[in-house]
Amino acid sequence: MKQSNLPLIHCQNISKTYIDGANSVEVLSRISLLVEQGDMISILGSSGSGKSTLLHILGTLDQPDEGELYFNDLDLLSLTPKQQANFRNKHLGFVYQFHHLLPEFTALENVAMPLLIGKVNKTAAFKKAEEKLAEVGLSNRLNHKPWQLSGGERQRIAIARAIINEPSVVMADEPTGNLDSKNSQAIVNLIKQLNKTYGTTFLIVTHDTKLSEQMSSVVNLSNGELAEECSV
Ligand SMILES: Nc1ncnc2c1ncn2[C@@H]1O[C@H](COP(=O)(O)OP(=O)(O)OP(=O)(O)O)[C@@H](O)[C@H]1O
Ligand SMILES: [Mg+2]
Repeated sequence: MKQSNLPLIHCQNISKTYIDGANSVEVLSRISLLVEQGDMISILGSSGSGKSTLLHILGTLDQPDEGELYFNDLDLLSLTPKQQANFRNKHLGFVYQFHHLLPEFTALENVAMPLLIGKVNKTAAFKKAEEKLAEVGLSNRLNHKPWQLSGGERQRIAIARAIINEPSVVMADEPTGNLDSKNSQAIVNLIKQLNKTYGTTFLIVTHDTKLSEQMSSVVNLSNGELAEECSV
């Protein structure tokens, strides 16, 4: 029987090997990780160490070869792809390194998109999107298209989109990757504020040590294995 106070995310012995013809690359080797509600965990590691692969597996965007993955007591790997998509829409928010905003849509439409996909009516979706854009300090950019925005503004819009469903967890891959130090700190402040206000859990892949030192814990991915660097 499962215990009552379960971690929010629990993965155990996750392995992943990419096979390309005769070459095989073992990227993840029996990774285990516990994530509690409200944690802000940064995942460090050199380029090619498997950080994005791990984040995608934890977010059900990719499948491991072996291992277990639970969200509370929900066995995520036993779900069908459609059930996984519903799970992601309801519980997870993603922030990608290059924001992945839809170029032909405005900031407001981009942020409202997860709600529209979730079949929320348009008026309610746009109202909520406006609130989230206000939260990230972009009330004055509702009708701008992504190409009319600065890099930092695009990342803030990507965060607004990630949090519109009020997810328990936001998974972010290099959210400050292309930003200068001032804009990076604005993103870090936003992450900390969302964590404090809503208890949102963050899992953040980064090379940015300024970002990682402000998270609650740091894990390092190297040779396919995770090691905790420090805990505060
Ligand atoms: N679809 C794939 N097929 C084959 N190999 C892959 C595939 N995806 C990733 N890899 C390999 O797996 C390794 C880990 O890739 P991953 O993208 O997870 O690294 P990363 O730590 O996120 O790197 P970066 O910091 O550069 O983004 C790399 O060596 C990459 O070449
Ligand atoms: Mg990556």
